[in-house]
Amino acid sequence: MALIAVYSVKGGVGKTTLAVDMAWRSAAVSHHSTLLWDLDPQGGAGWLLGLPNNPGKRAASVFHREGKPRELVTATRYRGLSLLQSDESLRSLSLTFARIGKRKRLARIAALLAAEYPRIIIDCPPVLNEISDQVFAAADLLIVPLSPSPLSARALPMIREEILKNHPRHPPILPVLLMYDARRKLHREAHAGFAAGWPVIPMNSMIEQTASRRAPLGTFAAASEASQRLQRLWDGVEAKLALRALSSPLP
Ligand SMILES: Nc1ncnc2c1ncn2[C@@H]1O[C@H](COP(=O)(O)OP(=O)(O)OP(=O)(O)O)[C@@H](O)[C@H]1O
Ligand SMILES: [Mg+2]
Repeated sequence: MALIAVYSVKGGVGKTTLAVDMAWRSAAVSHHSTLLWDLDPQGGAGWLLGLPNNPGKRAASVFHREGKPRELVTATRYRGLSLLQSDESLRSLSLTFARIGKRKRLARIAALLAAEYPRIIIDCPPVLNEISDQVFAAADLLIVPLSPSPLSARALPMIREEILKNHPRHPPILPVLLMYDARRKLHREAHAGFAAGWPVIPMNSMIEQTASRRAPLGTFAAASEASQRLQRLWDGVEAKLALRALSSPLP
């Protein structure tokens, strides 16, 4: 099993859009049974997959000692892609984790789900607190989308520093330059400067349409340049996971 977290301290940079796309590619293209786990009380992942809002209040209960994560997993209309949907109980998730006091609780729940889901992809809220701490302790790979702004240049070192405080053997970090517009000077400077060498996902109306169509890009515009870039990003993620599996010590 590999747990991939789409995480950034920055809000509105395209985390949810990217997490849903990566999860869809994992299931539909790579044919892994995939669980998309929405940890954000906004519940955007379910929305983008065309599901109705979740009126429940049990999403946070999976973290309790007697939690039953399998009972809360819902199917999506896409073969191989399941969702652990968010609901309003996640609003106080950081408090829930603080109360539980076990820093590896999320990792433990993910391990329980590993047999059914070789890929678990988490859509994280833009926070730096007990929630991100649990995610850092559990993830095999952190995808960190950042926008091409000078403020983003500060965000990545900040995230690294924060992770290192409690996780000296932290998961690999894959920064991604998102919402890139080559017509803008500041964007080009970011691309050539702090974000040199990062995968780039453009600011693109087709990607934006995934929110109005409530369907992954690959289902309605697979041949588009944007979809191909997202596919290359997913292929890069798979390659990194394969390398990590090769280099991990034998049990
Ligand atoms: N590459 C892109 N090009 C154009 N629009 C995009 C792109 N990626 C995401 N968007 C749009 O940007 C908005 C924010 O995206 P999204 O909700 O995925 O961000 P987020 O980082 O998850 O936000 P939050 O921090 O609130 O959880 C949405 O309207 C989405 O459709
Ligand atoms: Mg989001």
